[in-house]
Amino acid sequence: MNNQVLISFYPQGKKISVPSDFTVLEAAQLAGVMIDSVCGGKGRCGKCLIKDLSGKPQEPTENENKFLSPRQVREGIRLACQTRVREGLEVQVVNEVLESGSKGKEIERAVFNNIEGRIKKRRIELAPPSEKDQTSDWDRITSALPETKQASLEILKKIPGLLRKSDFNLTFTLFQDELLTADAGDSTDYGLAIDLGTTTVAVYLVDLGSNQIIASRAALNRQMLFGADVISRIEATRNQPDGLNKLQKAAADAINAILEEFFAQISSCRENTHLVILVGNPAMIHLFLGINPRGLAEFPFIPVFSRAFTLRAVETGLNLPAHTRLETLPLISAYVGADSLAAALTVDMDTPGPPRLLLDIGTNGEVVLAYNDTIWACSTAAGPALEGGAVRFGMRAEPGAISAVTIDDDVRISIIGTHQAKGLCGSGLLDAVAQMLGRGLIGKTGRIINSGNLPDGISDNIIRRLSPGSKGQRFYLNPEIYLTQGDISQLQLAKGAMRAGVEILMEAAGVRVDDLEEIMLAGAFGANLKPESLIAIGLLPPVPLEKVRPVGNAAGAGAVLCLLSQEHHQRALRLAGQIQHLELSLHKDFQERFIQAIKFESELIRKYHGSPSPLGGCAAISKPVHPDEQSTLPPR
Ligand code: FES
Repeated sequence: MNNQVLISFYPQGKKISVPSDFTVLEAAQLAGVMIDSVCGGKGRCGKCLIKDLSGKPQEPTENENKFLSPRQVREGIRLACQTRVREGLEVQVVNEVLESGSKGKEIERAVFNNIEGRIKKRRIELAPPSEKDQTSDWDRITSALPETKQASLEILKKIPGLLRKSDFNLTFTLFQDELLTADAGDSTDYGLAIDLGTTTVAVYLVDLGSNQIIASRAALNRQMLFGADVISRIEATRNQPDGLNKLQKAAADAINAILEEFFAQISSCRENTHLVILVGNPAMIHLFLGINPRGLAEFPFIPVFSRAFTLRAVETGLNLPAHTRLETLPLISAYVGADSLAAALTVDMDTPGPPRLLLDIGTNGEVVLAYNDTIWACSTAAGPALEGGAVRFGMRAEPGAISAVTIDDDVRISIIGTHQAKGLCGSGLLDAVAQMLGRGLIGKTGRIINSGNLPDGISDNIIRRLSPGSKGQRFYLNPEIYLTQGDISQLQLAKGAMRAGVEILMEAAGVRVDDLEEIMLAGAFGANLKPESLIAIGLLPPVPLEKVRPVGNAAGAGAVLCLLSQEHHQRALRLAGQIQHLELSLHKDFQERFIQAIKFESELIRKYHGSPSPLGGCAAISKPVHPDEQSTLPPR
């Protein structure tokens, strides 16, 4: 049996006792310390940096030496997934994953008038029993509420007392044919819409009386500790002891932390929350329900279930009353989930009309195309580049991330929330590459051009930012942060996969680029990525910029619609049956299209990025460009 050892994490100040054969990353998972661990602890991403504060760090492994500079090794920096715990070890987390400090991704508030709600309230005055009327309590209720067919044992136990205390005058809360609660009838009723994303979970608290979102909050999905993408998470269910339960609990913990905040604000809202609508990709839904997702990752890629599912919310570990029902929306396939369905619902893809595209760009990108009354969908493995993974200085869009780049005579950068750049988020990477393409610093194949072969007119300030590295040229954005050839390749993989998916759907629908009425970008990226950069690198087809529209968290908005309205919920169920899924991995042309789409097209680059564009990116949280950042050059 292994000895237990005590390890402490700073600056969180958390201590935990774990078996001595644990890695620091495994101990962090148990302690709930969010260390960035894109590859899920396989030693492949180099992101899980910690500093050994003991002054006697273990010798770096061969693997660690690949990621750590000699200076980092001297300073005691190591990889958490490669470092064994030992008694009294104190570590400082270098790459902590920060919880979102925002109020959450706001959905535009839709006011619903004259809708048929999902939760029904009925105020009934029943005749009390008498010598002549010996009807049972339950039959007395169901004869007044004929739609009621069932109730939990818990509510059945409470009914006799409630009826007599209220003189048989009660308000009943119904969901479908089930009696959920009975009370005096002066309570406000609540529901929750949850968008469980691979990276972020967004929760909306909705007043079911006024049909308004009254609070919203986003936080990191705590499953991040087990890897950044769905494949790492599915592998973790296999490779970690009790992995499936750990992942299930991590997601539930992330949601419960948000619910605690809501309950602290509105004291009665826990007891009066009746319905939860959960959307997410198929892996997230399987993991949240504690259902083994293995079939999603193995040929022929089959989910355990795809229909809408209703269960008691408490069964998933959510801190909600026993009567609260949780409903998932249908899944379209193994990789197109309830989130895509909800997003398609929000933007009315079930309304016949001209061709419209809906894209959710992320580690797993989803594409939906509607044309007349047919809808197609596919998903593409875009890789982690746009979420900060597999990029030398990649990071999420958090304080310190370069979120926008402009290159003219020099480089200008915009940094989220601070003057000190720590890395590069997806919009910054996209901008940097698009701008480098526009200045001729990157060729069609994606290769960074040597300083000797640059086109005319490149300023000395720019030339000095190019520097040879061990694996090709580097381009310095500031003295510490640079783009590598490998970073550009990662972006090419992402854009190639997304574009190939778009092309194949358009071909299936018989749609040409000129026919497209609109391209809608869903999710956080949609709001932060510049359309001209997306088109310039070829991720989007070349449409006029005004045809590209961010639609915010359309998946969350769809969940709210299904929470509030019987009609919209029915629409979602019908829409699920309408969507035709194309499995790209089995498509005969995918490989060829993908390889074609990896390249850059010089005509597009000239058209969309031939001249510098204003800084944008994560504009809402970016600070203006600091004058110092305009002229900082790399060390020579
Ligand atoms: Fe440790 Fe990726 S290298 S989590």
